[in-house]
Amino acid sequence: MTVTAVFGVHWGDEGKGKIVDVMAKDYNIVARWNGGDNAGHTVVTDEYGRVALHLVPSGILHKGKVSVIGNGEVVNLQSLLNEIEGLKEKSVEVTPDSLVLSDRAHLILPYYRDIEAKKESTRKIGTTGRGIGVAYTFKPDRVGARVLDLLDSGGSFIEKVKIHAEENRLRLNPEELLESQRELLGRLEHYLNISDTVEFFGRNGGANILLEGAQGVLLDIDAGTYPYVTSSNASPGGAYTGCLGIPRIDRFIGVMKAPYVTRVGAGPFPTELGTEEAIKDARRGQEEITAGDMEKIRRGDPLATAKYLRVRGGEYGTTTERPRRNGWQDLVAAKYAFDVSGNPSHIGGVMLALTKLDVADGLPQINVCTAYRRGDKNLPSFPSDTNLLNEVEPIYEELEGWSENTKGVTRYDKLPRSAQNLARFLENSLHIPVYMISTGPNRKEVLGSSDGF
Ligand code: IMP
Repeated sequence: MTVTAVFGVHWGDEGKGKIVDVMAKDYNIVARWNGGDNAGHTVVTDEYGRVALHLVPSGILHKGKVSVIGNGEVVNLQSLLNEIEGLKEKSVEVTPDSLVLSDRAHLILPYYRDIEAKKESTRKIGTTGRGIGVAYTFKPDRVGARVLDLLDSGGSFIEKVKIHAEENRLRLNPEELLESQRELLGRLEHYLNISDTVEFFGRNGGANILLEGAQGVLLDIDAGTYPYVTSSNASPGGAYTGCLGIPRIDRFIGVMKAPYVTRVGAGPFPTELGTEEAIKDARRGQEEITAGDMEKIRRGDPLATAKYLRVRGGEYGTTTERPRRNGWQDLVAAKYAFDVSGNPSHIGGVMLALTKLDVADGLPQINVCTAYRRGDKNLPSFPSDTNLLNEVEPIYEELEGWSENTKGVTRYDKLPRSAQNLARFLENSLHIPVYMISTGPNRKEVLGSSDGF
């Protein structure tokens, strides 16, 4: 029996969905511990084609596995129903035997988005606008509506909605909301089983469990670049409270893009190429890499390099379609993320999964940030003071790029020498072994195995 936690090392969108999908074959249960439909994973398989997942763990694409939406997720029932109907259209089996919804999970009710929009107008975090923060804020405020509230007489649900209406000056009809949420849950019950996860994990004592986090450590509410973070614990510590009942965590797999890092929304980003403002009009499918761009890249132009990574990496939000901010790989941040989440001294094992290696094919040079400098001094570590991050200068190791095609390569010895060097450089700098390297979106485009290599 093994319990493995897969987490994002930087600001999310590292490709965790793909890694979880590849690993799921060796596990019985795949459970997610945080986030909501702010998250978006795209998984590509020969059987189902391109599938976008938001709330449902990536294990759902494997027959005979059980996927669990943990109590730490916040669930918009309408989004969940849409997602499941989308999966059914692609002939993915979703049944009460294959999908479990925690009865303790908090709901996102339709008006949470309006509350968030009002807050966002003054705070400018650049949220996904899904009402995620509102659901997570109601939780410690003890007025959050939960799945459980739809299963009893409904009194507490109505009471909570009345409080929301009063405190946020909204005109709401609690009875109507209760009815519509119950109607949605009734439809969902054809596809999923509502459970107490403590009882569920207890009953499945000998199972191999793969835990999936949404977003990344630098967006974690406690560890991240506060206040430019999401509202949940994206680092694997969150799995213990977000998937109540898991026995322990044996292994940690941190997922990061090999040659670069992305961030969506506002907040500091030391290795950013260009600025958030400069890319605001970039749209998927409307940009292409020109000979002029390549010339600029050779001269080290940051905007052209960011465009190269954005276009080739498809770096536009799965959930919001916003262009993602791109920057060079940041090992100061990555080291911090592992220190937070699963330090290499952990006995069970901490490993790296590298994604999007192929995106860098054709780049003449790849820069990897190995230190932050402020004034004439190097910082000893990733600073807890978010403001300080805006002032640091990244110090880069310049690695040679490669011109060969790595897309779909499935053997390490078939990678160009410079690509191997990049993987080894990341591994040696972090002192964490590489477990898997992804060379394309398809499930098959991967090197490494259950044992690493
Ligand atoms: P929220 O999670 O919608 O509250 O947004 C808070 C911050 O987290 C914003 O900067 C979002 O862009 C970011 N964020 C939330 N979910 C994701 C994700 O899945 N990938 C990348 N960024 C995310």
